[in-house]
Amino acid sequence: MEKKELLYEGKAKKVFATEDPDVLIVDYKDDATAFNGLKKGTIVGKGAINNRMTNHIFKILETKGVPTHYIEELSDRETAVKKVEIVPLEVIIRNFSAGSFAKKMGMEEGIKFKQPTLEFSYKNDDLGDPFINKYYALALDLATEEEINTIEKYAFIVNDVMREYFDSLGIELIDFKIEFGRYHGQIILADEVSPDTCRLWDKETHEKLDKDRFRRDLGNVEDAYQEVFRRLGIH
Ligand code: TMP
Repeated sequence: MEKKELLYEGKAKKVFATEDPDVLIVDYKDDATAFNGLKKGTIVGKGAINNRMTNHIFKILETKGVPTHYIEELSDRETAVKKVEIVPLEVIIRNFSAGSFAKKMGMEEGIKFKQPTLEFSYKNDDLGDPFINKYYALALDLATEEEINTIEKYAFIVNDVMREYFDSLGIELIDFKIEFGRYHGQIILADEVSPDTCRLWDKETHEKLDKDRFRRDLGNVEDAYQEVFRRLGIH
């Protein structure tokens, strides 16, 4: 599998074409941004950790009935994936109050919910990824009702599987964001699952082991990513 032209460079990844029109190569960067790109920095080693962690978790999810774009890990930072058309919805699941939810609801962080929440943001950087509901998504023709139902079903399976898995590593899955794509008419999980896109707290100490350390200038950012990676046991 060989990289051809650069198709897209995002905030955390580059995406390359390959000789196969159905296959792309993603190349994870150490670059980090927050607040829609206003804050910029580098988290040394992040690209390799996010690449290998995403692939590890996507493989687990495949065994639990969630189709993903994963094909093959090519190197520390590079993975061959199925070329999808991204559904422009950020799908956020929360198990505990934190982040924008805590702020919006005037709640402290870390309150366990009676049941998980699911919300959508419209994936649009110019608008700052606004919060929308299913009816907005249908009105704007971002996805069909059948696609949204599939996305919701998969998102809750992802939550169940990841919660249990992280729990076995001594980590509480507070919340996360995932994205889906269309591949030959099917909805499959795409993008990444990493400390960039999940809130992960140590179960005992409640120490934050995710990108909030960067967003909020909490220090020890690299250590947190390394600690999550170490617990995955995939070296
Ligand atoms: P929020 O509390 O800021 O809405 O974030 C919810 C979850 O989504 C959290 O795990 C971090 C993740 N997230 C992203 O992956 N990308 C983003 O751009 C934002 C704002 C949040």
